Amino acid sequence: MPKSIALLLLLSTVVTPSPAAGDERVPPVTDPVVNQECGSCHMAFQPQFLPQRSWQKLVDTLADHFGEDASLGETERAAVLDYHLSNAADGPKGGRAARKYGRRIAVGQAPLRITETPWWVKEHQEVRADKWRSREVKSKANCLACHKRAEEGIYEDEEHEDDD
Ligand code: HEC
Ligand code: HEC
Repeated sequence: MPKSIALLLLLSTVVTPSPAAGDERVPPVTDPVVNQECGSCHMAFQPQFLPQRSWQKLVDTLADHFGEDASLGETERAAVLDYHLSNAADGPKGGRAARKYGRRIAVGQAPLRITETPWWVKEHQEVRADKWRSREVKSKANCLACHKRAEEGIYEDEEHEDDD
């Protein structure tokens, strides 16, 4: 068998996700208002990563958003809130992946950072401390530095090993 065909066969078995893995995937943000208003300073984070109470609090405090003024007009604010509540970890459209990510966030807590939720911290515990401060990463919130396809909802990255 020619080498190229053997390689193709190998790739197709490795790359094709199983249906179960597909379910676990976080869908990309589809709302144009959210992509525009919440994707200008950083990538538009998928609502699935935080519970409704977090998004409610975050949208209520946009005027002082991590030191920035990210406030919105009433129409945009309502649209952004609606999308985040629907697709939140515990939202009606959150899906399977969302329930996984929302797990273990204490009921009384409404973290504003995905990067401070228990599942995120656990998922990233193998990342060396100095990596977060490195020039290409700078911040834990800079998902795209390590997950090149984060905006598509693809976080299971093949290239982490080459990162350092
Ligand atoms: C004016 C710029 C700006 C806009 C617009 C903006 N953000 Fe942010 N956001 C920031 C900054 C700055 C941070 C802190 C980033 C860091 O720690 O590296 C942040 C952090 C966040 C975090 C926490 C990330 C983490 O650490 O897990 C979330 C969630 C978030 N923003 C959601 C939103 C949403 C939703 C919108 C749209 C309503 C939005 N942002 C619009 C500037 C902005
Ligand atoms: C310094 C690099 C780095 C940054 C920045 C980073 N991650 Fe990760 N992430 C990793 C590594 C390493 C893993 C574990 C290895 C793996 O599963 O690919 C991981 C795993 C994950 C997983 C689990 C993937 C799976 O296989 O199920 C998710 C989801 C995830 N990260 C989301 C995020 C989000 C959201 C952000 C930004 C708020 C972020 N990460 C920022 C390096 C990073």
